Amino acid sequence: MKKRTAVLISGNGSNLQALLDAARAEDFPATISLVISNKADAYGITRASNAGVPVEVLSHRDFSSREAFDEALHKLLIQHRIELVCLAGFMRLLTADFTRKWEGRMLNIHPSLLPAFKGLNTHARVLESGVKTTGCTVHFVVPEMDAGPVVLQAEVPVMPGDTPHTLAERVHKEEHRIYPLALARLAGGLLRPQEE
Ligand code: GRF
Repeated sequence: MKKRTAVLISGNGSNLQALLDAARAEDFPATISLVISNKADAYGITRASNAGVPVEVLSHRDFSSREAFDEALHKLLIQHRIELVCLAGFMRLLTADFTRKWEGRMLNIHPSLLPAFKGLNTHARVLESGVKTTGCTVHFVVPEMDAGPVVLQAEVPVMPGDTPHTLAERVHKEEHRIYPLALARLAGGLLRPQEE
């Protein structure tokens, strides 16, 4: 049985697209069964609709607290019988309570070689630091931001003359390659217990 997977987004959704494309393969062990966006104008919503995947918009502005938002999020996931969750450019911090409920079943992708460069504006900070190599990381989500056991990483060179934009493009290509691989491993039960 394919694992029913939800992808949570806030924006463009190019990683969502990579997951949707990969999940079309007959032998891919997960289906993208739901997309949730906290922004009504996220382009990823169009990508989901084009792929015929149900979309729910859950605006954090409609909730008085982070706890209430996360509770509604959890309810939606349960309603849709979701088994696995992929955060893909979802720009909301999740409560510890919520992350514990999905522990071992929720992945995130971050555009750096974690534990280096946690947080926002990653590529600008990478360029400022002068490092010669960066990359991206798929990891399990734990209460602490951009932490949690690493599932897959890919390295990308930093080139002379790079801007945050050119670097982001190079990293994105690798994100689109490793996120589907990581989801396939989780959904296919191929991750060793210590990684879960
Ligand atoms: C990606 O760089 C991802 O690593 C980060 O947010 C960005 C989302 O891009 N968490 P997209 O919406 O998937 O195009």
